[in-house]
Amino acid sequence: MSSKQLVCLNEYEKEALAILDRNSSSYYQSGANDEQTLHDNINDFKRFRLRPRMLTDVSEVRLETTILGERISMPICIAPTASQRMAHPLGEIANARAAEAMNTCFVLSTIATTSARELSEHVPNSLRWYQLYITRDRAITQKMVKRAEVYGFKALVLTVDTPTFGTRYSDTRIKFKVPQHLRMANFDGIPSMESGMANNSGGSGLNFFSDTFFDPSVTWKDVAWLKSITALPVVAKGILTGEDAERAIEAGVDAIIVSNHGARQLDGVFSTIIALPEVVAQVRGRVEVYLDGGVRKGTDVLKALSLGARAVFIGRPALYGLAVGGEQGVTDILSILKKELKLAMQLSGETDVQKLRKGLVIHESMMTRL
Ligand code: FNR
Ligand code: LAC
Repeated sequence: MSSKQLVCLNEYEKEALAILDRNSSSYYQSGANDEQTLHDNINDFKRFRLRPRMLTDVSEVRLETTILGERISMPICIAPTASQRMAHPLGEIANARAAEAMNTCFVLSTIATTSARELSEHVPNSLRWYQLYITRDRAITQKMVKRAEVYGFKALVLTVDTPTFGTRYSDTRIKFKVPQHLRMANFDGIPSMESGMANNSGGSGLNFFSDTFFDPSVTWKDVAWLKSITALPVVAKGILTGEDAERAIEAGVDAIIVSNHGARQLDGVFSTIIALPEVVAQVRGRVEVYLDGGVRKGTDVLKALSLGARAVFIGRPALYGLAVGGEQGVTDILSILKKELKLAMQLSGETDVQKLRKGLVIHESMMTRL
């Protein structure tokens, strides 16, 4: 662990990228193709400006909220990311422990290096959701759903933006591989997957999954099927338009994450903060709406909340926290964001994340008053 005092998420990122080997840093960092959307996810937050109000008594600030009825201490949670043991030997366990320490939610990736069972054994009391893909062989999906139920996961997060993986040039260039000593633990006990992984020697290491296991023929009908085989709430992750928000609601989802997969799928799509208002307007409060992508500052969180997100999720920043300091590193990341959010609220004249004033943010294109 570094002895340097790192004061913000961007400094953790720099430190982590200096520590990680090239294989891991390339995989974690990269976005699709020319990374236009990767850039936009961060920079479009800056295009929204805050309109603070003064002298409103900000001596007490409430950051607590709920997601799907579960209480969390702040509207900042951890998004599912694959292969966390490349960042730290305890990987997903350390990440989930940090989320638990901060009283928030951790989402386990299907492509995790820790299984649903292991996570439940090591972090039994954590609030955890399970990220899912619908597989060509529906029996595999069903098995994963059963495990998520048995091992205490409180929701299924169905990723809808990944019929196959996007192109990440740097992964192709360096022939990204999940290191040999790690395993895609959620496939334990699924023979076809275990043997496939053992024989998968070439190319970008994760393409095996999208090629053989993800089902590109999935439609919203399959979401309705998923709802029919589980009592767990289903969260659709990867919605960017009002049209898809409507279809997701028709299919019976319980919540939506406005996400572009950390800009790793289709380059050139909207940043998530730009996509959010359209989705929120279409949803009209029928289901909860969350956002991920590019959240790096407390003011980013505040902007997303005031545009209608109930909570945000962070992907890369938690990986960078893990790389720098394991569980403590992620706890630090979450603490920094929490403090920054509280301060941003106080300086904006806001006192409750669930009751933000309308008109707190404005897009820069609307700022010039004639
Ligand atoms: C991801 N993401 C992701 N999403 C998912 O549904 N399943 C997964 O296995 C992964 N894996 C993954 C790996 C890595 C290295 C990254 C960076 C991202 C996407 C993730 O859940 C989330 O949408 C983004 O990471 C959010 O953007 P930021 O916070 O990284 O900017
Ligand atoms: C990725 C997959 C694992 O973005 O979702 O690399």
